[in-house]
Amino acid sequence: MKGIDWKTFQRLRGSEKKEYFMQFGNIFHVIMSQQFDRKFLDEICELATKIRGISKGNKGVKFLQSLLQGKRAMLYFVQPSTRTFLSFMVACQILGIQCSEVRDTSTSSELKGESQEDTVRTFSSYVDLIVMRHPQAGFAERIAFLLHQIGRPVPVINAGSGKDQHPTQALLDIYTLHRSFENYGGIDGKKIAFVGDLLRGRTVRSLVYLLRNYDGVKLYFVAPKGLQMGEDLKKYMSEQKVVFEEGEDLGEVIPLVDAVYMTRIQDEYDEAGESKRIDYSRYHFNKEYLDILHPNAIIMHPLPRRGEIPVEIDEDRRAIYWRQVRNGMWVRVALIAKIMQKDRDITEY
Ligand code: CP
Repeated sequence: MKGIDWKTFQRLRGSEKKEYFMQFGNIFHVIMSQQFDRKFLDEICELATKIRGISKGNKGVKFLQSLLQGKRAMLYFVQPSTRTFLSFMVACQILGIQCSEVRDTSTSSELKGESQEDTVRTFSSYVDLIVMRHPQAGFAERIAFLLHQIGRPVPVINAGSGKDQHPTQALLDIYTLHRSFENYGGIDGKKIAFVGDLLRGRTVRSLVYLLRNYDGVKLYFVAPKGLQMGEDLKKYMSEQKVVFEEGEDLGEVIPLVDAVYMTRIQDEYDEAGESKRIDYSRYHFNKEYLDILHPNAIIMHPLPRRGEIPVEIDEDRRAIYWRQVRNGMWVRVALIAKIMQKDRDITEY
């Protein structure tokens, strides 16, 4: 990020920022989905599968643990998380990295008035990798920029930034789609429905950005009025020639698609309490929908769920959200290995 000031950097399009998130031709920071191309997505899926295989035996487990021994990571999660936090922690452990954590600003010197920037700058003095979840959109990007400015360029991974992006969830979603459709022509040409709070759901936003890398996909955005996909992303899809339709009727869309991606209402961002007036039950995957869903289609959810998918649906073989959870761990191992340039060691194992 040398030779550019923050204001100029902020004005760049996501795809133009990509080069600033690289170092010596390798991925360095993981900030937004627009930075990834098809080659990278294919490589990360292949690497995750290779790591799964290696970790099945004791020798492989020891090999993986030896790769990054002596390295340290900080998990700075100041928004709630179960899956992302734990899967990053376990991914670090699989690669032999030691983790420290801050999960609440009330336990750090931020409570005494220290700025967020100084807080993260402090982490960069102690660790080799910073993984952060933060309520502010763009915070991870600002920190990555700052660390270069002060000459302590530690890789930053965005583990969820406000309503904006969750790029590592999108990577695990791509891996899940890739595995689910590997015997059915891959992700190219698939029809995917996104259901629920699409305006504020960062997992959907990040996954939609990634899906422009696949040929002939068609997206259906099914949401209540007022929670439809943001204009910025729709403009991006149009520019990228990705075909999409918007609607409100889930029952009409289910028979048409290869994947249904359910989401919960994101009312933590709803200061005026307007979400309470929405009948969100229309955006639940009812048991009757199993009869009209294609036999090879899949049901996804980034979780946590709050009734969008009743528990009895879990038994259907098309419900793959618990596999998504586990895929998240393997993809995060692959991602960290790539950032730390251990992917070749793994590929050659
Ligand atoms: N999918 C996801 O981000 O889950 P958590 O909020 O539990 O990390």
